[in-house]
Amino acid sequence: MFAVHLLAFYFTKLKEDQIKKVDRFLYHMHLSDDVLLDVMTRFQAEMVKGLERDAHPTAAVKMLPTFVRSIPDGSEKGDFLALDLGGSKFRVLKVKVSEDGKQNVQMESQFYPTPKEITLGNGTELFDYVADCLADFMETKNIKHKKFPLGFTFSFPCIQTKLEEGVLLSWTKYFKVRGVQETDVTSSLRHALRKHKDVDVDVLALVNDTVGTMMTCGYDDQRCEVGVIIGTGTNACYMEEMSNIDLVEGDEGRMCINTEWGAFGDDGSLDDLRTEFDREIDLGSINPGKQLFEKMISGLYLGELVRLILLKMAKKGLLFNGKISAALRTKDKIETKHVAAMEKHKEGLQNTKEILMELGLTPSEEDCIAVQHVCTIVSFRSANLCAAALAAILTRLRENKKLIRLRTTVGIDGTLYKTHPQYPKRLHKVVRRLVPNCDVRFLLSESGSGKGAAMVTAVACRLVSQRKQIDEILASFELSKENLIEVKNKMRGELEYGLKKETHATATVKMLPTYVCGTPDGTEKGKFLALDLGGTNFRVLLVKIRSGRRKSVRMYNKIFAIPLEIMQGTGEELFDHIVQCIAEFLEYMGIKGARLPLGFTFSFPCRQASIDKGALVEWTKGFKATDCEGEDVVDMLREAIKRRNEFDLDIVAVVNDTVGTMMTCGYEDPNCEIGFIAGTGSNVCYMEEMKNIEIMEVTEGKMCINTEWGGFGDNGCIDSIRTKYDKEVDEGSLNPGKQRYEKMTSGMYLGEIVRQILIDLTKHGLLFRGQISESLRTRGIFETKFLSHIESFSGILRETVKEMAPQCDVTFMLSEDGSGKGAALITAVAKRLHNVGEN
Ligand code: BG6
Ligand code: GLC
Ligand code: GLC
Repeated sequence: MFAVHLLAFYFTKLKEDQIKKVDRFLYHMHLSDDVLLDVMTRFQAEMVKGLERDAHPTAAVKMLPTFVRSIPDGSEKGDFLALDLGGSKFRVLKVKVSEDGKQNVQMESQFYPTPKEITLGNGTELFDYVADCLADFMETKNIKHKKFPLGFTFSFPCIQTKLEEGVLLSWTKYFKVRGVQETDVTSSLRHALRKHKDVDVDVLALVNDTVGTMMTCGYDDQRCEVGVIIGTGTNACYMEEMSNIDLVEGDEGRMCINTEWGAFGDDGSLDDLRTEFDREIDLGSINPGKQLFEKMISGLYLGELVRLILLKMAKKGLLFNGKISAALRTKDKIETKHVAAMEKHKEGLQNTKEILMELGLTPSEEDCIAVQHVCTIVSFRSANLCAAALAAILTRLRENKKLIRLRTTVGIDGTLYKTHPQYPKRLHKVVRRLVPNCDVRFLLSESGSGKGAAMVTAVACRLVSQRKQIDEILASFELSKENLIEVKNKMRGELEYGLKKETHATATVKMLPTYVCGTPDGTEKGKFLALDLGGTNFRVLLVKIRSGRRKSVRMYNKIFAIPLEIMQGTGEELFDHIVQCIAEFLEYMGIKGARLPLGFTFSFPCRQASIDKGALVEWTKGFKATDCEGEDVVDMLREAIKRRNEFDLDIVAVVNDTVGTMMTCGYEDPNCEIGFIAGTGSNVCYMEEMKNIEIMEVTEGKMCINTEWGGFGDNGCIDSIRTKYDKEVDEGSLNPGKQRYEKMTSGMYLGEIVRQILIDLTKHGLLFRGQISESLRTRGIFETKFLSHIESFSGILRETVKEMAPQCDVTFMLSEDGSGKGAALITAVAKRLHNVGEN
């Protein structure tokens, strides 16, 4: 019993001694949490530098935009080819993505060797070889006759300006191919593929392996927004806010950034942490001075790091009794797979012994324990350094999202991470310790970067075909100059029909005389009431006009809503409601007793017999009250006032909103002779020569004509430019077949046209994953104001008018005060004339 204890004690002691010895020797490789937090901070600064326009050129960490803007959404589908070059293995893949409710990916792939002649040869040979392998793969799979989109995983730093293009910044890892650096690798690939007449592929995406990994994992977990590789090389990508990426135009949304963190430290910023072994590794590599962070971490270097340490220890007599074998002196004799084997949980020591013996050494028990511990220190440092940089990325993501806690998924891949028995759990543990406010899920990319590259290609492919289909669908809205000239000429013709005696009655553009014969001259004065009905709001106004030197207009108004059931109820209800609003306004202003002259802006087509008589021709826009059409609206208003029997008003003028607008602006600018409304409805009035208005007896002077151009096209004359969406909007409206031009131009309908297009695009599967939501089905849900949030129109209007009427020098003046002011001015003039007449 005692002997067993003694033995156990002896072994523990022996182990402790060896571990202490190695720890002392490699104390510089031990990184405390404080050091790691410091590395994390340094990497955060590097990221900022790489993203900034000015700092980018000299930044060690390049932070390369990838033009991948979203993670897969599950709607990807199709057959794709992918190439996966730059890791430990070169692969050609065929990926079939189906979207049959449950996501489904089928992959077939084949590995091809990458001999030294290729990885250290010249560019033409490399791309010819890649193309040959692809052709061979297609031959084997019997798919040569078909056209395929292709995604190219190319695991090296590339400067991209589009998804399908990338200029190689520099080779890394074990590649050093002449004549490729600073050239576009996709065009080289395309060039090589052209030599295969029987291969028809379209290279649509170039992706780094980190991006491929993020996309592979993102397909299964939508939360995935980071991709990490710890393999032959090491690197990470993540989704960055566009607004932080100086090198790419635009601020909306996010884009994946390939950090190329392997180059961290290339400017000397990690020199304090690098050991003599790190310097030796670097000097012996094919890219000295480059990828210094990677050389402390990744699979290509770990074995060699261990070898250099063992060699040094042996030289110092700390191992193998000071004996050194030829193999131990030979570069790359210890590989990362050996390190992984030596650190295996149970068989580790036995493996160590075998590996050392393979190297021609005769290790003692103590030697094996010490060597195993060297491996642990080297691989643990690797995990620590990766954890620090990853913690910096996670912190950045959390801060970008302004979150206190971040919940996210990291897609991860690479031989070191996958094959080293302790690596994943060490990495996870340290990351969680460094960023306690992030809940991180590590998701191993089971199927490599190729699947992700296919996803990126699927998205690119979908976008290309969607763009094409959307363009085709929207082409019907394009108006060429010829179209516009034709519209102009037709409108001209219709205006003339409306003015001519024989055709006036049947004209679709009604050309209604308004009995307004001049714009204001500044002598108008007095207190007036004005009503403004027919636009978005119903307004009641009190307008005080002063003439002479202190010429001014003061207005007080109140806005009232007109409920839908009133707009579409009976005429009596509508006019009673109007009078009710007037009563409230008079009450509110304290002028109930005063019998003020009133101007009535009524924004519908009226056939006038005088300034204060107007029979409604027909309702337009959203109004449909019964028993009004054909009736005089002034009479209807008077009757409603009588019915209420509370106050009296002197209704002097009934005015279309276009006319009110012209008068409002005419008060400021006497040259104003056109009034234009682009609102709920669309209409124009202008000053016409009396002699051209054939239905009027008088031939002297001018009169304002309310064109009612909204009815243009009601005889079918512009059907050639009406789209199926215009027709749908018309059919769903209150007045089908009527106001066709208005329905193509005005606020009440534009949003509705957009809604019809959205529905159609959705039906074609081009939007919203083909799902038409209940609200999208709802008429009027897409308001015209949404359009103006997205686009601005007034510039286009001005430009087109200039183009279509080059001989006219037009000033557009916005009527700031609405039509009510103009209506009051008209009332003032009418009142003055009336009084003159009476006297
Ligand atoms: C693989 C990817 O899964 O991971 C490769 O498909 C990538 O393209 C690799 O480069 C990284 O690991 P390694 O160890 O092969 O370099
Ligand atoms: C190297 C490459 C990088 C790649 C990484 C992992 O660091 O420069 O592009 O992602 O290796 O393969
Ligand atoms: C409708 C009306 C018209 C009005 C225009 C703008 O087209 O018919 O009278 O001017 O809308 O409100």
